[in-house]
Amino acid sequence: MKPQYHFTAEKNWINDPNGLCFHNGKYHMFYQYNPKGTTWGYMHWGHTSSDNLMDWQHLPVALFPDNEYDKDGCFSGSALSIEDELHIMYTGIRYREKEVNAYGVEVAAGDDGLLPSQIHAVSKDNGLSFTKSLPPAIPIDEHSHFAHVRDPKVWKTVEGFYRTVLGNTENRKQGSLLFYKSYNLHTWEYEGKWTHPDFGWGWECPDLFTLDGYDVLIFSPMGINIHHINQVSMYLVGRMNWETFNFEIFHKSFLNNCFDIYAPQTFSHNNRRIMIGWLRQYHPFTEESYTGMMTLPLCLSVKNNILYSYPISEVDQKRGEIFHQQSNKDITLSIEKLCDIELVIKGNTKINLGGILITFDAHQGQLIVDRTQVYFEHTENHHIFPMDGLPPECTLRIFIDHCVVEFFAEKGQESCICIVDPNKFSSKLEIKGNIDLTIYKIQ
Ligand code: FRU
Repeated sequence: MKPQYHFTAEKNWINDPNGLCFHNGKYHMFYQYNPKGTTWGYMHWGHTSSDNLMDWQHLPVALFPDNEYDKDGCFSGSALSIEDELHIMYTGIRYREKEVNAYGVEVAAGDDGLLPSQIHAVSKDNGLSFTKSLPPAIPIDEHSHFAHVRDPKVWKTVEGFYRTVLGNTENRKQGSLLFYKSYNLHTWEYEGKWTHPDFGWGWECPDLFTLDGYDVLIFSPMGINIHHINQVSMYLVGRMNWETFNFEIFHKSFLNNCFDIYAPQTFSHNNRRIMIGWLRQYHPFTEESYTGMMTLPLCLSVKNNILYSYPISEVDQKRGEIFHQQSNKDITLSIEKLCDIELVIKGNTKINLGGILITFDAHQGQLIVDRTQVYFEHTENHHIFPMDGLPPECTLRIFIDHCVVEFFAEKGQESCICIVDPNKFSSKLEIKGNIDLTIYKIQ
């Protein structure tokens, strides 16, 4: 049942990817990790590294609570590779008061029970261990909310100084971004704020970068309430004004048609902007000792104000031999739940993929993915995902990895990344329609 080519911890709970970077010849991914169990709590930074972003080597926990500023958790943050040193900024958390939740985990009491500060730390051993600079680089100040400011994303500007963006709330009424500037990563100066009333009451995990001539903000608003889901990752494409700190919005959208993805992070390497997101699974599948996984690494691009996301080309190295290839006929087949499928859909088509119903309406240019029959009860409770604006002849790539299925139409113009219950998801594939199909094994 465990995914084979999607990252999971060896055991225990994971959430957000943190500190994504390329450093000293390797890719590194840190992640929110509870070493004590399979539910959220006691946040540490787990650590893994890779040569190709696909095969990950598990490494010891890299960051753990050990001082008065982060004694209750090392929350999300980001990394910068500077010569031999790996610099990180993360949110240290203290709880004002504690309570024990239904899983026996100590958490903050009340909605505003967190006491955050932003901490800078440096590793000289490729992320195996970190030296924290204390007191915190960015304490709570008159611009930030006393409980809900977190998730520093740090980068080096074209002008040559460093900038950090933080997710914040304006008095629990609307979300905001706070910007700070530094020349040495140790001392930080407040620069400005951007806030907007349309996206929930507070923002987590902001990530702001330039791509294909646009500015792109990816963020995770709280209090969005769409289909009864409270927290959903979004993106804005537009233009950031670094004098006024106003973000002019050209286009706004949810990040993915399925809301399992949350708190993604991006990094840039060799002219690619790569994103990895957390897939929200809240309880282990039966008798498994891990909870949560990451999406495939996705390469981002912007065309006509739309953010495209498509798996990096390294994913192709996982392709083994062709398992099945066929054109223009109806199909009933038993497949392995570990494969990479390429389809060209050439007219109205109905597909039943192990209980996931996929319908393509060529006239409307709409592809609907419906996972109602196979949904996992401990994930986001929303199961029908329409994807619009597709051409009458549409390409579709599907990655199956036991309990995760990722759909990419038209090379990432629309996508749908979903968790399925491996106990309900079957290996039967039925297609009625005019298609070209190639199924590759995964090796
Ligand atoms: C997003 C988030 C972050 C926070 C972290 C704690 O999922 O809530 O805002 O830093 O998770 O684990």
